Amino acid sequence: MIAGSGLLATLAPRIERVAGRLPRRVFVLTSAPIWALWGECLQQSFSDAPVVLFLEPGENHKTLASVEKLLRQMAAAGGDRGSLLIAFGGGIVGDVAGFVAAIYMRGIPYVQVPTTFLAQVDSSVGGKTGVNLPEGKNLVGSFHHPLVVFAEIGVLGTLPDRELRAGLMESVKAGIIRDRALVRFMEEHVDEVLGRDEKALEKVIAASIRMKAAVVNKDERENGLRMILNLGHTVGHALEAATYYKAMLHGEAVGWGMVAALWLARKRGTISPHQFERLESLIHLYGPLPALKLRVSKVVAATGSDKKNVGGVRRFVLPVGIGDAGVVEDVTPAELEAAVGYMLTVAAKKRG
Ligand SMILES: NC(=O)c1ccc[n+]([C@@H]2O[C@H](COP(=O)([O-])OP(=O)(O)OC[C@H]3O[C@@H](n4cnc5c(N)ncnc54)[C@H](O)[C@@H]3O)[C@@H](O)[C@H]2O)c1
Ligand SMILES: [Zn+2]
Repeated sequence: MIAGSGLLATLAPRIERVAGRLPRRVFVLTSAPIWALWGECLQQSFSDAPVVLFLEPGENHKTLASVEKLLRQMAAAGGDRGSLLIAFGGGIVGDVAGFVAAIYMRGIPYVQVPTTFLAQVDSSVGGKTGVNLPEGKNLVGSFHHPLVVFAEIGVLGTLPDRELRAGLMESVKAGIIRDRALVRFMEEHVDEVLGRDEKALEKVIAASIRMKAAVVNKDERENGLRMILNLGHTVGHALEAATYYKAMLHGEAVGWGMVAALWLARKRGTISPHQFERLESLIHLYGPLPALKLRVSKVVAATGSDKKNVGGVRRFVLPVGIGDAGVVEDVTPAELEAAVGYMLTVAAKKRG
């Protein structure tokens, strides 16, 4: 995993260094808007132009139908076992490309070149790939690790502000569960980070990736430790589901979900009132989070369908102090209602 600037323009020799040699056939999976902005820059270091494949933008194209179409395009273009696929886009492109690489000829190598903040700090790390079914998100997939991830800071220059802020919620999460120094850095450098200062972004990205990689290395298949990466995600996923994945970005839902988790942690005494205030303020510093107009019961009901629930146990990640977290399985319905109630009260005030 390499984060920095100037990576995109020097991609071919960098891949060559990692892979030993540049494969004869290189494919790039991207989407048209990203290719229009950054395609020329990506291509410049290749002496033979890669074969470019396009995925329509949007979550509704993260499907098996898209995967089949892409596999057939690769076969038609002469892709073989030695071919390489480069994922060049946000988390959607990354998840689909990873899955295509996992199953094309029973698996070919791929490289991630994530272009959203979320993809750089989260989805490109950890080896999870896959697509959605009409029945639910990410229900089909495979673990397939990229050869290498190149997080090019420069491409974040064209990322819409709302996407950047939403992605930063995963970094706030990374700090809360594992990295006190990251929490402090993000508190003290809000203007630089949101102003896209390259040094500040690089620092936040590198720390977030380091945290996720360390957790995933210890527990790839999510039997234990990896669960803590789901801080804010039980309620976050419920908010996304309750608003039919239309009202907010994933990171924004996670931001609100973390507010609920912090409230519960304060109630249970795993964080102090002072730590609660500090961490809640940090979330809002990287906001604004979108207004919510939902009933408590609807959000609570939606937490029941969370994929992370095994055998009917409602698992919940709670921060322990700043820089640590644990998983609890005995959260009562009353506690959950109260936590969601608090979150919705704050969200209602936001609407003014
Ligand atoms: N595999 C994992 O571990 C994992 C983890 C978290 C999320 N995900 C998945 O990631 C997906 C969300 O990813 P995302 O938030 O990156 O969304 P995305 O891929 O839809 O990208 C968001 C938007 O930003 C645009 N964009 C991307 N890069 C840009 C750039 N540099 N400049 C301008 N515009 C740019 C895209 O065209 C798109 O409209 C979801 O499908 C989610 O399930 C996977
Ligand atoms: Zn997330």
